[in-house]
Amino acid sequence: MLKKFLSILLASVAIPCITVVANTPNRTDSVYIFTYHSGPATDGIKLAYSIDKHYWTPISNYSFVKSDFGNWGVNKKMYSPSLLCDGEKWYAIWSVNPDVKQFATTYTADFWTWKPQDYPYVNQGENVVDPILTKQAQDFIVSYRTNKNTYFETRSTDFKKWSTASAISEQTYRQREKVAKVLINGTEQVGEIHRAPSALVQELEMKVGDAAQRNQSYNESTRDDSQRFAQVKALRGTLSINTQNSKPISQNLIGIFFEDINYSADGGLYAELIQNRDFEYSHLDRNEWNAKSYWKLKGEGTTFDIATDQPIHANNSHYAVLNTTQPGAALQNNGFDGIVLKQGDKYNLSLFLKSLNGKNQKVRIQLLDGDKVLAQTTLTASTAWKQLKAMLKATASVEKATLSIQPQTAGKLAIDFVSLFPQKTFKGRKNGMRPDLAQTLADLHPRFVRFPGGCVSHGNGLENMYRWNTTIGPLWERKGQSNLWGYHQSLGIGFYEYFQFCEDIGAEPLPVLPAAVPCQNSSRGGFGQQGGLPWEQMDDYAQELLNLIEWANGDPKTSKWAKLRLEAGHPKPFNLKTIGVGNEDLISDVFEERFIYLNKRIKEKYPDIQVVGTVGPFFEGSDYEAGWELARKENIDIVDEHYYVNPGWYIHSQNYYDKYDRKGTKVYLGEWASRGNQLENALAEALHITNLERNADVVIMSSYAPLLAKHGHTQWNPDLIYFNNTSVMPTVNYQVQKLCGNNSGSQYIYSNLKVDAISMERNQEVPRYNEAASKRISSSVVKDEKTGDLILKLVNITPVPADLQIDFDNWEGYASEAELSVISGNPSDRDNKPNQTTLNVSEKFSYQLPAYSFSVIRLKKITN
Ligand code: AHR
Repeated sequence: MLKKFLSILLASVAIPCITVVANTPNRTDSVYIFTYHSGPATDGIKLAYSIDKHYWTPISNYSFVKSDFGNWGVNKKMYSPSLLCDGEKWYAIWSVNPDVKQFATTYTADFWTWKPQDYPYVNQGENVVDPILTKQAQDFIVSYRTNKNTYFETRSTDFKKWSTASAISEQTYRQREKVAKVLINGTEQVGEIHRAPSALVQELEMKVGDAAQRNQSYNESTRDDSQRFAQVKALRGTLSINTQNSKPISQNLIGIFFEDINYSADGGLYAELIQNRDFEYSHLDRNEWNAKSYWKLKGEGTTFDIATDQPIHANNSHYAVLNTTQPGAALQNNGFDGIVLKQGDKYNLSLFLKSLNGKNQKVRIQLLDGDKVLAQTTLTASTAWKQLKAMLKATASVEKATLSIQPQTAGKLAIDFVSLFPQKTFKGRKNGMRPDLAQTLADLHPRFVRFPGGCVSHGNGLENMYRWNTTIGPLWERKGQSNLWGYHQSLGIGFYEYFQFCEDIGAEPLPVLPAAVPCQNSSRGGFGQQGGLPWEQMDDYAQELLNLIEWANGDPKTSKWAKLRLEAGHPKPFNLKTIGVGNEDLISDVFEERFIYLNKRIKEKYPDIQVVGTVGPFFEGSDYEAGWELARKENIDIVDEHYYVNPGWYIHSQNYYDKYDRKGTKVYLGEWASRGNQLENALAEALHITNLERNADVVIMSSYAPLLAKHGHTQWNPDLIYFNNTSVMPTVNYQVQKLCGNNSGSQYIYSNLKVDAISMERNQEVPRYNEAASKRISSSVVKDEKTGDLILKLVNITPVPADLQIDFDNWEGYASEAELSVISGNPSDRDNKPNQTTLNVSEKFSYQLPAYSFSVIRLKKITN
C-alpha cells in the first residue's frame, strides 16, 4: 500500500538530480549513486546507491539504458559510459565501438525514459576510447583518448552539436577523469559516483520492481492454466448487446504486410522459376555468392565466364559468356530449390542472346528431369542482343526440373536475362504471382497491402534504401539489389506489380518508403548509426516521393509519370490514398528533420494523401515516446506502431488503446504478432483484435508480420503463412486473421460482458469474479453496414468452457440461423482450422464458448 502511495506521489513529481546533501538525523534526502557498466558489452548502464560510499546496494542488475548503435543483436555495444547531472537532467555518453570515430549520447529527466540516442562524429583521432563527460559553465565537454594514446576534447552547449575536436594534454584528460571503483556484492565494479535525491532511488527501485512484475505477467502462458484455473468448475456469464449504442470504426482494420523476407518475393510469391536470371547476384547479397551463383556448366568443351562490357542495360551489367570449342555442354539452372513443372502446363521462356563470333548460332533450350527431356526448343542467336521467346509445354509433372541452355555450334555466345514463367499466374497476369500463394493472401480479404517492408524499405545503409522508381519499367532495366535479409531482390515484383496485385484482390495500396534514412541496424555505411541523405539530395528525394503519387494517380495526358503507368498497361489511376514515410526508425534529429521536410512536401502538394509516420519498433521506450511527441507536434495523420510480444502482453494490455486521444494522430498497427504459431498465440491475437475493434476509431489499420516464409529459407519466425515450392501451409494465426478479415465491420456496437467463475463451496455452486478468467475472455460486436449483418467475436483462452447468455436490447430482424465459425483445440495445437456450422439465434440465446476457442457468430440481416 505504502509502495502504491509512494508511486502515485512520485509519479506526479519530476525529481531533479540535485547534488545538494541535506542529511538530517534519521532522514537522508540524498544518496551517492554509482553508475557503472558490467557484464557483456550489450548490457547497459546500471545503478547502485550508498549513504556512505562504503556499502553499495545495486538496483537489481537492471540496465537503465543500452546502446542502440550498430547492427542487430550482439553488435550493439557500450563501453565506458560517463554521466553527468546538471540539476535537471542526466546526460550520458559512451564509447560505441573501438573502431569508429563516434561516441553515443542520450539524456533523461528521470533516469527511466531516455531520449533516442545520437552518435556524433569526432574529426580527431582514430577512435573514441574512455570518453569522459564534464561541464564547464555552459559547455558540455567530452574528453577522450584514442588507442594511440592521444587526447582530445569536443564541446557542445546543447548536447547536440559538437565542436571540432581539439587536442588536450594527457594531464588535462586525467584531471577530468571521474573513474571510481567500488565493491558491489563483493565484486569490484568500475564506474562513477554522483549524488542524487534518495527519492530518485526509491522511484527507480519501484519502477524496476514494477517492470519485473509486468514482464512476469507478459510471460504468463497456458502452461500454468491447470493450476491457475484449478478451482474453476465452470464459467458463466452474459453478453448484453446494446445495438442502439455504437460508433463508426475503420473498415480497413485488417490488412497485410508484405516484405521480401524469408524468400517471400523471389522464389516465393513472384512466379519466376529461374534463380539469378540476370547474373546479378553478388557478394553484397551473400558473401559466398557471385554472378555465376545458381548456374552451372554441365559437360565438356565449353567455358563459362561473366562479362560486363556490352550489357543489355547499364542497370543489368553482368551477363554470361559461353565459349564452346566442342558442342555438348550446357549451362543449367535449377531455379529456387528446383523448378516445379506441371504436366500439360505452358511456360513462357524468354532470354537475351547474342552471338559473339560474327555469325548466327543455334541454341537448344530444354527442360529436364534428370536426363529426361520434358520440353525443348531451338533458338537462333544473332550478332546483336535480342530477346528471344518460346513457349514450352511440360510433358510430365516434376518438382525438381532443370533448365538447360546448350549451344549447338562452336563459338562465343552471350546470354542474359533468362526467364521461365508459368502461364498460370494469379489472375493470369504477365510477370505475375504464384496463384496458390496469391489466392491464400486474397482469402484473407485484406483491405490494404503494405509493401515493400519493413526493413527492406529503409535498407541496409543509404545505398540500399528502396527506391521505388528503379522498380518499374522493363524487367531488365530494373536495378536489382541486395536484400538486407541476406539474399537478392530481383525487383521482378516492383511497384507496378504491387499496385496491380492490390487492385486484383480489392485492397488499397500502402507503399512505405524510407524517410531518407536507412535502417538504424544497418551493417553497412558505418556500423548502423543513422546518417541520412545529405541535404543537397533532399529536394530530389522529396520529388521522388511526389513522383510516386503522380505515377499512381496522375493523368497520363499531362504527367510523364502517369504516362509510364499507362505504358505499363494501367491507364486508370490506382487511387493511392496513403503513403508511409519511414519504418520503425530511430527518432534521431537526422530522422526528424528529414521526416518533417518530406511530410511537409507531400502535404503541400497533395493535402488529401494520408502520410504514415513511425514510432519505433516497440510498444514503449524512447523511439515510441519521441515518435509520438513528433506526431503530436507535426500533426501527422497516422503513425505506424510495431510490437512482437508474448501472448501474456496481449492479455495484460487490453486497454492499451483505450487511453489514446481520439482526435489526434491515428494508429496503423503495422507489424504485430505474438511470437508463436500455436493455438495459444492465435487466441491471444484474436483477443487483441477484439480490443482493436473497440478502438478502431483510432487504430484504423493493422497487419500481422511477417506474412510469408519459405521452408528452409526463413530469417524470421513465426510467420503467418509457410510454403514450399508446391504447397502453402497457412498457420492457425492465419485462420484468425482470415476470420477477422472476412468478418469486419464499420460500426462498433457497445456491449457488456460479465463472466463469473463457478467454484464448489460446501457442495454449492458459488459464482465469483475471477480476474484471470475475465482477462482471458473477451468479445466484440461489430456491424457490417454493407450487409446489415451483426458480427460477434468471442475469445476464450481458458481450459474451461464458458456458458454465455447473449441478450439484445433490440432484435432488428436477423435470421434465426446465424453462421458460426469456431477455432478450438489444445493451446499447443498448430493446425486448427475453423469449424463452420450454423447456430440458432434470437433476441436472447445461449452459446457456449469452448475451452481455448475463438468463435465468430455472424447474424444475418433479413433482406426483403
Ligand atoms: O517483420 C520483420 C521485421 O521486423 C521488419 O522488417 C521490421 O520492420 C521489423 O523489425
